[in-house]
Amino acid sequence: MTKPTQPALRNLLKLARKAAKRSYSPYSKFRVGAALLLSNGEIVTGTNVENVSYGLTICAERAAVMQAVSRYGPKIRIKAVAIANLNGMASPPCGACRQVLAEFILPDAPVVFPAADGVRSMAFSEVLPLGFEMKLK
Ligand code: THU
Repeated sequence: MTKPTQPALRNLLKLARKAAKRSYSPYSKFRVGAALLLSNGEIVTGTNVENVSYGLTICAERAAVMQAVSRYGPKIRIKAVAIANLNGMASPPCGACRQVLAEFILPDAPVVFPAADGVRSMAFSEVLPLGFEMKLK
């Protein structure tokens, strides 16, 4: 499996930013976008969709994973993830999103996200070192 190139990651980040513009976040006003590069070459995006109950809010990363499976089916593999927000703040993926990404992502897939010191890229295996698994598959 070839490693995503720097231009491919830059493009993914641009698409994550574009997706963040569609955020439904009237409660937090925190606008997040995520873009996934799939091993079939396709890119899917997601944005956070909040709910008046607060707890039913879906993060951008999970929205993107649901979109990917809904469009391309259960065999998808994620080769790279980019996350952006329009609030100029750090936003690494939350714990729930890491566990959901783990279901489909390749361990060495780069995860590109806004950190306190600028945009950071880390391998998924570093982002979630001890994710829950069951050896059933
Ligand atoms: N949010 C995301 O979309 N992704 C994350 O990884 C963390 C948080 C959203 C959820 C909520 O709409 C807003 O950011 C504030 O928590």
